[in-house]
Amino acid sequence: MSTTATLEIDGKKYNLPIVVGTEGERAVDVSTLRAATGHITLDEGYGNTGSCKSAVTFIDGEKGILRYRGIPIEELADQSTFIETAYLIIYGHLPTSAELQRFSDLLTENQNLHEDMKYHFNGFPPNAHPMAILSAMINANSCFYPGLMGPEVRNEFDIHVARLISQVRTIAAFSYRKSRGYPYIYPKRDLKYTANFLHMMFSQPYDDYKLIPEVVHALDLIFLLHADHEQNCSTSTVRMVASGQANLFASAAAGVCALWGHLHGGANQAVVEMLQQIYDSGDDGSKFITAAKDKTSGKRLMGFGHRVYKNHDPRARIIKKACDDILVKLHINDPLLDIAKRLEEVALRESYFIERKLYPNVDFYSGIIMRAIGIPVEMFTVMFAIGRMPGWIANFKEIMEEKQSRIYRPRQVYIGPVNQTYVPRPQRKPRTV
Ligand code: ACO
Repeated sequence: MSTTATLEIDGKKYNLPIVVGTEGERAVDVSTLRAATGHITLDEGYGNTGSCKSAVTFIDGEKGILRYRGIPIEELADQSTFIETAYLIIYGHLPTSAELQRFSDLLTENQNLHEDMKYHFNGFPPNAHPMAILSAMINANSCFYPGLMGPEVRNEFDIHVARLISQVRTIAAFSYRKSRGYPYIYPKRDLKYTANFLHMMFSQPYDDYKLIPEVVHALDLIFLLHADHEQNCSTSTVRMVASGQANLFASAAAGVCALWGHLHGGANQAVVEMLQQIYDSGDDGSKFITAAKDKTSGKRLMGFGHRVYKNHDPRARIIKKACDDILVKLHINDPLLDIAKRLEEVALRESYFIERKLYPNVDFYSGIIMRAIGIPVEMFTVMFAIGRMPGWIANFKEIMEEKQSRIYRPRQVYIGPVNQTYVPRPQRKPRTV
């Protein structure tokens, strides 16, 4: 196979190197294009743009493959835990028992927020969206660790990583408690990561939440399945912010904001709201499918479709089974699950969805699991953010470790007015529409 691509512009030929990834992915390296030709590439929505080289996660959207550091998601879902997988994603290898113990100890040591952070929660109205609180509080954390700003940050990286992974869970639980007017519940030293989160969410000062192993496992699995997904909208945002040398907490806070929208992490909330609306309207799903196919309706089948997966989302398969298992375990008969299954069945037969290669994504069933566990719908995207933290950190780390790191700064094709002059205010005419 050729190692260069030839581009011809105005009769002149330019050779551009082809870069090949470890999984055989091929990319035309255009980094010298503008200097050589005066042209830039235009790729709205970045569907054809590789923004970086990364060694964290591999996806083959055509074959439905997802691997963290080379290990298939199915194996990790089956045999690992969120925290072990977080270590793998951030540090690049599966931890030995001693490494995992040290990581776990660091998480425990750093799980409490600075006590003064509690006062920040009081400034938010009770109905504030927890994603707004989460991003604000992660960023506020930067104020409490001035070492983050200095050159010594590299020496303390492991501690900042542990702080972020551990405290995002504490912040999430506190924001929920605040929204309900409940007293804050502090983390316990003897509980593992996900169990501790459920404890902080649902215990009362007089009554410990009763942990059910299957519930803990289901939520841990949700975190693990969300732990990274290469250059998606939020991870690209983290890299963008980090490329300007912003600190870890500021970069992660930006990732939370990018995740919030309903086309990205907010889809898990949107799916359950959609299913609830279908249920409330007495529709069996068929009317909604008709509307989702009609571009003028403004409706989409939430939890369906993916920029990269054009066959199936491997996470969706795992989560669908977990969803069935947990509802059986908890003896829950959720009518929304019946609607979801019917929608999937109908959509997968419809030419509209088949032709566009639209399949259920990870968000289609995760919300039903979280609903069964008792996590309120407005917290769903927060669960995604907790899960995605290792991926954001690993991508931040790649930026920091780049030998010749450059600030991310795309260009544009300008299409605005040309050569205007400044008109003094008294001479300006009202604009006609
Ligand atoms: N329902 C109905 N039609 C859809 C859907 C959907 N869920 N998704 C895509 N389409 C249609 C589009 O209208 C478009 O049709 P056209 O070619 O006739 O114009 C075609 O499929 C391609 O869609 P795009 O929006 O161009 O695809 P893109 O790759 O930009 O978007 C996205 C991917 C955002 C995930 C999209 O499929 C979507 O909006 N899905 C619903 C929201 C969702 O579930 N998001 C979660 C994504 S996964 C994650 O972030 C964890």
